Amino acid sequence: MIKKFLVLSCMAAAIYSCGSSEPKPTTTEPQPAATTAAADDLSKNPDYQKGLELIAKSDCLTCHKVDETSTGPSYRDVANKYANNDAVVDSLSQKIIKGGSGNWGTIPMTPHATLSTEDARQMLKYIMLLKTN
Ligand code: HEC
Repeated sequence: MIKKFLVLSCMAAAIYSCGSSEPKPTTTEPQPAATTAAADDLSKNPDYQKGLELIAKSDCLTCHKVDETSTGPSYRDVANKYANNDAVVDSLSQKIIKGGSGNWGTIPMTPHATLSTEDARQMLKYIMLLKTN
């Protein structure tokens, strides 16, 4: 009985693996080159590069995406909500460090107590470059 079961499950595995080992069509087409000059300029901006690097090293991307609302607002929505000036960069950098809720809803952002003001400001400079309005 057990032997029969083993044989059967081996056959099932063989059938399954046969089905899944079909060669996938290979795509050799080259990827399109950078779309617009504007997007290209942005990624070469040192503020954009440094800010994005800091954000990637921290936990920000678990709650924020560039264009989609996630646990937190999208970075583009944040950039479009505020004016891009020193006062805003200051207050938002403190918000990142201290955490809090209320400007987008009731879900709080966790505090980032070990983040320096300088790094938080650099992250904000990147976020503000996403502004489209
Ligand atoms: C645990 C999830 C979470 C993490 C991690 C997180 N955020 Fe947030 N963030 C939120 C939420 C939720 C809000 C909306 C808060 C509110 O309603 O005021 C927010 C709001 C913001 C805002 C707008 C603040 C305002 O008052 O309008 C900025 C800027 C921001 N986050 C940047 C960051 C950066 C940079 C990091 C990484 C250092 C980060 N967040 C990490 C959840 C998170």
